[in-house]
Amino acid sequence: MAHQQKTSDLKKRMRDALKGGGDKAIKKQKAIGKLTARERIIAILDPNTFHEYDLFVEHAAKDFDMDKKYLPGDGVITGTGILIGHPVCIYAQDFTIAGGSLGWMHSKKITKIMDHALKLKVPIIGINDSGGARIQEGVNSLAGYGEIFYRNTQASGVIPQISVILGPCAGGAVYSPALTDFVFVVDKISKMFITGPEVIKTVLGEEISMEELGGAKIHSEITGNSHFYAESEMECFDQIKSLISFIPWNNMKKADKFPKKGPKTRKYKIENIIPTDPKQPYDVRNVIKAICDDSEFLEIQKQFAANIVIGFARLNGDTVGFVANQPNVLAGVLDVDSSDKAARFIRYCDSFNIPMVTLVDLPGYLPGVDQEHAGVIRHGAKLLYAYSEATVPKITVILRKAYGGGYIAMCSSHLKADFVFAWPSAEIAVMGPEGAANIIFKKEIMSAENPDEMRKKKVNEYRKKFANPYVAAAYGYVDAVIDPVETRKMLIHAIEISLNKEVISPNKKHGIPPF
Ligand code: HXC
Repeated sequence: MAHQQKTSDLKKRMRDALKGGGDKAIKKQKAIGKLTARERIIAILDPNTFHEYDLFVEHAAKDFDMDKKYLPGDGVITGTGILIGHPVCIYAQDFTIAGGSLGWMHSKKITKIMDHALKLKVPIIGINDSGGARIQEGVNSLAGYGEIFYRNTQASGVIPQISVILGPCAGGAVYSPALTDFVFVVDKISKMFITGPEVIKTVLGEEISMEELGGAKIHSEITGNSHFYAESEMECFDQIKSLISFIPWNNMKKADKFPKKGPKTRKYKIENIIPTDPKQPYDVRNVIKAICDDSEFLEIQKQFAANIVIGFARLNGDTVGFVANQPNVLAGVLDVDSSDKAARFIRYCDSFNIPMVTLVDLPGYLPGVDQEHAGVIRHGAKLLYAYSEATVPKITVILRKAYGGGYIAMCSSHLKADFVFAWPSAEIAVMGPEGAANIIFKKEIMSAENPDEMRKKKVNEYRKKFANPYVAAAYGYVDAVIDPVETRKMLIHAIEISLNKEVISPNKKHGIPPF
């Protein structure tokens, strides 16, 4: 064959492979608001930067007439590209080809690009849209999943791993996203479950739709399996870009530095956010926005366990992870879900060299049989473990209440915060003045002529003595009591001087966190 003929043969082969599952399947995909796999990759990456590999990979299955089927690229697109100026590895399952089901060669393509990502130390983005294990390939598809899970675990804490659920993600397939760092879902498009509605109906006789069982809202609000919720695929892609701008490319790097920008102080006046009445709630996100660059805060798991707020912002151009109790929801208590949510985020920041700021305002752990039986001891311990283990700069600001176990858990100096600051409104005590007075002055209150008067008196007595930051400051548990308007300045300095901190941990293979 002459050179020209060989080139046109290549082009024809490429055209055939690029057709995906054909016009009918593509039309079906689009009718439900979904882009095709290749369109998704192109929409996420910087323009004209996608380089595809393994386009000509074919499945080798023979059973169930598979030897007669041509599945272009075996139903998954893999490659590398540039995302906001940095290299990434990416793959997207193509639902138009055998439902994006995962056969052995399909899995080989994914594990190959994962291996590249780990070797090249760049993030890996996986777009999931699949009917799960390719039934015709039996144990080989299960083997393929196992190989992916192993690599997810190996890559954990080394390179950022991002999962985008843009279709079904059923059965054991959900465990790859669950092992990754950030899971993105889109309303009415994403569906994740271990056993689908059919199996549930057969085994348990319960009827439920796919959406109610494992739709985007369920995973964003109830299960906490997803980290970012979007109304459309394009909104989801913008969220990915925004996240990527905040995180380092691998665990040996720092996140990109941005130009320094002050907060929007006209809109967010730090001195006016916290109400004077200590029982009044407020939105702690406004405190974060009053502190951080350009008041830009990327909240993670916004809809899940909203009693704690986590996310990224910048201080003087550098990425910082914020963890803050949210007095607007359940008074900002810690419970099973909020402990899990914060603990995982702390471990992410620690793995990727992101300094952390903790804002404290909570009455403690949520009491109740539900919480005790749901394992609040085990889950709450994750937070203690994550903060204690983290060696990145850890700065804490106590805004208002810091009672009991909550005081310790929210990155107190005892868990080795590098600096703890408190606002004059801080109340650091074993419990709130009302509860404390009722217990320690019980006899005086009961025997008083007017118990209500006496209770008020004793509550005030307790508040004066303990519900302030000065007792903790007198012991050196608080490094400085600061005017709220000084918070940004104090944080920037504290982080700057902590950047070269060194912590010598005992020699061990790894600890055993209360998973
Ligand atoms: C092979 C599959 C497939 C699968 C879908 N297809 N799932 N082929 N293996 N797992 C094929 C269909 O035969 C069809 O092929 C095409 O993909 C599109 O599927 P439809 O059913 O027409 O699409 P839709 O109506 O949109 O329904 C999507 C779906 C459904 C809900 C995902 O296909 C479905 O329930 N699939 C099976 C899901 C499942 O139980 N998977 C196994 C999970 S167990 P044609 O040729 O007609 O276009 C698992 C174990 C992993 O994954 C364990 C790892 C540890």
